[in-house]
Amino acid sequence: MTIPQSKQNEKRIFSGIQPTGNLHLGNYLGAIKNWVKLQEDFSSIFSIVDLHAITVPQEPLQLRASIHEVTAAIIASGIDINKSILFNQSSVKEHSELAWIFNCVCRIGWLNRMTQFKEKAGKNRENATVGLYSYPVLMAADILLYKATHVPVGDDQKQHIELARDIASSFNNMFTLDNENNFFSLPEPQIFGPATRVMSLRDGTKKMSKSDPSDASRINLTDTKEEISSKIKKAKTDPNPLPETVDELKKRPEAFNLLNIYSSLSNQTLDKTVENFVGKGFSHFKPKLIELAVENLNPISSEMRYLLKDTKAIDKILKTGEIKARQIAEPVLQDVKSLVGLIN
Ligand code: AMP
Ligand code: TRP
Repeated sequence: MTIPQSKQNEKRIFSGIQPTGNLHLGNYLGAIKNWVKLQEDFSSIFSIVDLHAITVPQEPLQLRASIHEVTAAIIASGIDINKSILFNQSSVKEHSELAWIFNCVCRIGWLNRMTQFKEKAGKNRENATVGLYSYPVLMAADILLYKATHVPVGDDQKQHIELARDIASSFNNMFTLDNENNFFSLPEPQIFGPATRVMSLRDGTKKMSKSDPSDASRINLTDTKEEISSKIKKAKTDPNPLPETVDELKKRPEAFNLLNIYSSLSNQTLDKTVENFVGKGFSHFKPKLIELAVENLNPISSEMRYLLKDTKAIDKILKTGEIKARQIAEPVLQDVKSLVGLIN
């Protein structure tokens, strides 16, 4: 078994995805597609973050099924379990232990600034769980437990990674004896590609999201060719032909979103896509986008369906990942405990 070693100055990647609802094109283009590229060059650890999922109510049987589905989706998208570590968060108990220690480092004022909590808790904030509130602390524990240096995510997670940096640097100040040799290095977000924020197909100002009640707002990784086609056909647009420049495009949120999706799926820059479609109407553009989306997503959904026929095999894959993850996590947590003064 090869375990990536954390060497000084070596990049190590950590990222996570929640096993809730349907994985969609935003998850794929904003996160997983980048993971697949990064695993070639860096030691990479990816987690299905079930402990994050339970910060809002989950139906137990559905949660279990979603863990299998998300694992299958990640593998079907191209994560190679011989190159990367893939595991389920709650199976490595060190995540929860480090999160508790970080709860005693993180300040309430820092959490009060988190916009995702405000959005998710909505008006009835008093009724939100403490777990939802301290969710970013657990996320910091996920990253720092592996001393990850880089965190590839979509744009919505930027603020959480800034918080992980604040926690790391505060921990270093509180507990690292030698200032030259900080215990944690500060993790960097990696937010790249033309689709760091894929928007809803029904409203170009809203993020594409698993929790949107309208299924027509998103393209799920499990959608059939017909569903993809009908959702793109119905996607909100405007009556004007496509513009000559990216600046003009930016003033039209729905058009901007669809051209960004096209660019990301075809691995070309937005400038190039704008150049390809200048002056064309959506009746010309949409069929091209449908063709491209089906070509990219169909192989993923058929591979997912194939993998999901054998959930025992998926459990085995997660078990292997768990063992590898724990080999890195255990010694880091032990060091943290001794620095804090806890008895190991
Ligand atoms: P989640 O579904 O919240 O667990 O998110 C998993 C990953 O997908 C994270 O890296 C998110 O930043 C990314 N992501 C989620 N929704 C979008 C979106 N609409 N556009 C781009 N990235 C997204
Ligand atoms: N909070 C992330 C999201 O909803 C998921 C996540 C949990 C994560 N732990 C992480 C992402 C650690 C990157 C690193 O998208």
